[in-house]
Amino acid sequence: MCGIVGYVGQADACEVLLNGLRRLEYRGYDSAGLAFFADGAVQVVRSVGKVAQLAERVAAEWPAAVRARATAGIAHTRWATHGAPTEMNAHPHADESGRIFLVHNGIIENYASLRRQMEGRGHHFLSQTDTEVLAHLVGECYRGHLFEAVAQALKHVEGTYGIAVFTAEHPGEIVVARNGSPLLIGVGTGATLVASDASAIISHTRQVIYLQDGDVAVVRADGVDVRNLDQIPVDRAVSHIDWDDTAVEKGGHAHFMLKEIFEQPESLQNTIRGRVDLRAGCALLAGLNLTPREMAEVNRLVLVACGTSLYAGMTGQYAIEDLAGIPTDTEQAAEFRYRNPILGPDSMVVAVSQSGETADTLAAVREAQRKGALVAGVCNVVGSTIAREAGRGVYLHAGPEIGVASTKAFTSQVLVLLLLALALGRGRRLSREEGIKLCQEINAVPALVQRVLAQDGAIAALAGKLVAAQSAFFIGRGVLYPAAMEGALKLKEISYIHAEGYHAAELKHGPIALLDAQTPVVALLLDVPGRDKTMGNVQECLARHAPVIAIATEGDTEVAALVPDCLLVPRTGTYTAPILAVVALQLLAYHVARLRGCPIDQPRNLAKSVTVE
Ligand code: AGP
Repeated sequence: MCGIVGYVGQADACEVLLNGLRRLEYRGYDSAGLAFFADGAVQVVRSVGKVAQLAERVAAEWPAAVRARATAGIAHTRWATHGAPTEMNAHPHADESGRIFLVHNGIIENYASLRRQMEGRGHHFLSQTDTEVLAHLVGECYRGHLFEAVAQALKHVEGTYGIAVFTAEHPGEIVVARNGSPLLIGVGTGATLVASDASAIISHTRQVIYLQDGDVAVVRADGVDVRNLDQIPVDRAVSHIDWDDTAVEKGGHAHFMLKEIFEQPESLQNTIRGRVDLRAGCALLAGLNLTPREMAEVNRLVLVACGTSLYAGMTGQYAIEDLAGIPTDTEQAAEFRYRNPILGPDSMVVAVSQSGETADTLAAVREAQRKGALVAGVCNVVGSTIAREAGRGVYLHAGPEIGVASTKAFTSQVLVLLLLALALGRGRRLSREEGIKLCQEINAVPALVQRVLAQDGAIAALAGKLVAAQSAFFIGRGVLYPAAMEGALKLKEISYIHAEGYHAAELKHGPIALLDAQTPVVALLLDVPGRDKTMGNVQECLARHAPVIAIATEGDTEVAALVPDCLLVPRTGTYTAPILAVVALQLLAYHVARLRGCPIDQPRNLAKSVTVE
């Protein structure tokens, strides 16, 4: 996720801003920039790459004496969403006049139409970003009063934002605003700071004001004035941060993995935003860059991926075949790339990759292109190699995933593939009514995930049943079969307990020989096709005295009666059920690893992105 730092005080603004950005580096980013006020003017420096490179550029371009006289400024680390990671796309962005500078976290949904309107009024844009459009909008509204200009401009905006804005004409103030993207104000002595999270300012002050959605504030060295978009004053309390520095980086969570598990209502909302057309009952996936006719000509689909992304692909396969009626396979990328796959111009190969850098998946993309197939990427990192070489696709918008064990990327991948199935299906025999029903199920997912997360305590208690196991099985059928595989992978990679994900029907074809009182089985029994048959398999496990943990749908008294160690998750559709099941399994694996004292964020032997074969 991007990072914001702002400062209004007596001096040394550059150093304060750069140190603040350094404290935000953990959030993942690909470019950085700052604007500072010194000697009567605002200077802007931006660079691709790390904060260290930005600091070198600042030192090279501005003598220490000038930097020391800087009294205010804003700074940003960018995690690309609209537009590749380039210096031109880095923040701060300026308005048409070049007088007003703005940094932004979030996604402006209607930026394209705003940009077209302003181009029609003679505006010229230098970047591909939604942020620059917002800067120009503020500039259009500016009549000498920055706060009013920002409040007016934001009334035309749809989407999420956390912004900091400033101008040389009012060097003693920064205007900030929040809607859906965190922003806080640090109240210091003789100086006031703003930031997207407390880690950037905690070394200066622990007295903070957390802005709420709809707030707009003027920040000065000697005080803060918080209002709403109608410029009516609002009262915001000053809180005291008592977290230690590292805890602040993780949002108060013990590990990045746990932070990212709990981010899923927000990350899923960001994945969905702007992509569900409830009126037509369809998905809007502009990044595919395919006409309806081209989509209708796809007669075969192959999903290629590795690891967790492979299980997301396997999950998506059910939805695509059921909803679009297109023969679909999911292949491990290394197998695909070497087995001389049979593809044609009516084949579509979808590479699923959080990092967009996995070597085998990238090689699979290139092999598919050599064979003339349509290729698309489902990636989280904007501008990643797979995303660039595929040339078309759908970004997750899940924000950077720091924990090596993939969590929020998986659930966003499943949702994107469901949106793809909906788009392909509505171009075929899926009716508008069926599409609307699916859109409603998709829109409901973030809130349902929130309800699963609320059961964290119950899941932590169930973890105690697994913590001493040498080996465990995860079983499921249908859409829950890949979910079982993913649950087993989570447990393996962070707790180091051997675990196998198995199709529930397969147990009796051999693995049941391994079941005994020391071998727990986690059974996915949500109310989707296959549940009743899996119940029979659970009976077979219980008959061998295997301890069973069940995950079922709220109200399923039959499962709760058969399996006392049962977690109930909200009712949802068939194709969204794996998301709820896997969120519970993520927390289960996390608590087992925590109880076993494992490192969790950086498990032994693992890398976040496997860029070698
Ligand atoms: C999942 O928890 C692992 N970190 C790993 O299996 C990962 O999913 C796999 O390496 C694929 O990575 P990618 O999505 O970045 O391509």
